[in-house]
Amino acid sequence: MPDTRSLMKNLISQLLASAVTRLQNEGVLPADLIPSIQVEIARDKAHGDFASNLAMTLAKPARMKPRDLAEKIVAAMPEHEAVAEIGIAGPGFINIFQSKQWLAARLDEALQHERLGVPAAHPVQRVVVDYSSPNLAKEMHVGHLRSTIIGDAVTRVLEYLGHEVVRQNHVGDWGTQFGMLLAYLEEHSVDAEAELADLENFYRQAKQRFDESPEFADRARERVVQLQAGDPQCLALWERFNRISLGHCQAVYERLGVSLRTADVRGESAYNDQLASVVDQLRTTGLLTESQGAQCVFLEQFKNAEGNPLPVIIQKAGGGYLYATSDLAAMRYRHSALGADRVLYFVDQRQALHFQQVFAVARLAGFVPESMQLEHMGFGTMNGPDGRPFKTRSGGTIKLTDLLDEAEERAHQLVAQKNPELAENELRQIGHAVGIGAVKYADLSKHRSSDYNFNFEQMLSFEGNTAPYLMYAYTRVASVFRKLERSMEHVDDLGAMQLQEPAEVELGAHLSQFAQTLDYVAREGTPHVLCHYLYELAGRFSSFYELCPILAAEKPADRDSRLRLAALTGRTLQQGLNLLGIDTLERM
Ligand code: ARG
Repeated sequence: MPDTRSLMKNLISQLLASAVTRLQNEGVLPADLIPSIQVEIARDKAHGDFASNLAMTLAKPARMKPRDLAEKIVAAMPEHEAVAEIGIAGPGFINIFQSKQWLAARLDEALQHERLGVPAAHPVQRVVVDYSSPNLAKEMHVGHLRSTIIGDAVTRVLEYLGHEVVRQNHVGDWGTQFGMLLAYLEEHSVDAEAELADLENFYRQAKQRFDESPEFADRARERVVQLQAGDPQCLALWERFNRISLGHCQAVYERLGVSLRTADVRGESAYNDQLASVVDQLRTTGLLTESQGAQCVFLEQFKNAEGNPLPVIIQKAGGGYLYATSDLAAMRYRHSALGADRVLYFVDQRQALHFQQVFAVARLAGFVPESMQLEHMGFGTMNGPDGRPFKTRSGGTIKLTDLLDEAEERAHQLVAQKNPELAENELRQIGHAVGIGAVKYADLSKHRSSDYNFNFEQMLSFEGNTAPYLMYAYTRVASVFRKLERSMEHVDDLGAMQLQEPAEVELGAHLSQFAQTLDYVAREGTPHVLCHYLYELAGRFSSFYELCPILAAEKPADRDSRLRLAALTGRTLQQGLNLLGIDTLERM
């Protein structure tokens, strides 16, 4: 089922267009007129659900008063079952009321439909989503949260719409940090797996040595060169570090309910043997310029403050390759091996210039065809509660696991206060869902390009645009069905829906916008739009629940219809939260 809102807008445009054609044929409007037809969703529903200013824009060429023309247009509009009534207001606005029966029939269809009425994507695209992508050797810290969860939410939405998604965790597994670890390992011959398992600590010690000893730093750099040249001993140790580090990542993904698996890892090192050929291809296409011994691409459109072109450095004077080089190789791979139609990069906004540059170079070099969409879905910074960079009290970076521990602990306490009667294991389970859900939702509900302040009290509040509020809204719907000992999945026996009360129409109209909302999120990579939709849905359900008794409805037909409306609400809330990677609970 296509979404009724955009469907309605299109439909009304068509009805208006055919009215214009008719008036042209009758000589009322000039034959050479090409009208631009605009239909808006009305804010004040008292005068209609949709409105058009068409008569005002055509009045002049038609040499008529807008109101008179509006009357002629309305009279010339073909009838349609979706339109209940048409009126004219003010200087000549055409106002259209949507048919409640028609809307109800669309909602009935959604209840029958396997994806709540969301039509399958057409055409289906193969979308590569590059997300999470932490630099390894350290444990994931708070800076890795945004890419991981925003990317995962968009990935889920794309898959739900029927696109073919390939997840790519482009981890930084090949940089200078590994030289440091290798050199430190040599010095200290740490062999116990247990000691290495505390990679964070090991990394810190290595970094300290690196900073205090120039001689150690030189050795670390040598080890990187050896590693990248394929020295077997370095490689074996490097693999070991990687395994431990990726194991930490995987534990975090599982805890967060993020859908990345080990098989989705394709880090920088995977492109190592293709880097030389990237350089060759750039040379063949005449894009390379040598500058101070380095191989660079200079593009007209990227200039520094003085107006000099900025280089994209492809290969350093010593022969080493760069971040940009592996990104070029990765783009080529995503086109030729993965067959991508579209590639999305969920990476910090601060890398915007990097992506503009490598996208431009990849196109010029013919690594990817013009038709392949490349989009940097940048995001802002997550700051501490005080708006300053998020650090531990001693100024260190905050490990993601520590942050999640605290979220779960706080959620557990809140839930225990509200439900002292629940058993401890159930409290733990709810605390986990609420704590993790709150952290994710707080991030997802902000526009990704803005910075935001991390605030436990806010995100765990049961009021406002938060995960606990939405999860609670779902439990309210669930409890209606629990009282009846029936499932919201099966409401076919309840007859057809009827929308009568304004609160029912408002809720129904919003439910009908689910598909349009998901399309938008898939196109723009903005989960906050889905959050906002769900928040609004919960609000409209609340009003409906207050104003329209379900179980206490006077007429059985009203009760049944409202149950169906509640079922669609509950299922949409659950599905929507699931697409955000947030679990729902039956009670909390
Ligand atoms: N590892 C990089 C970082 O932490 C992010 C990689 C993003 N993906 C990419 N294809 N460049 O900054």
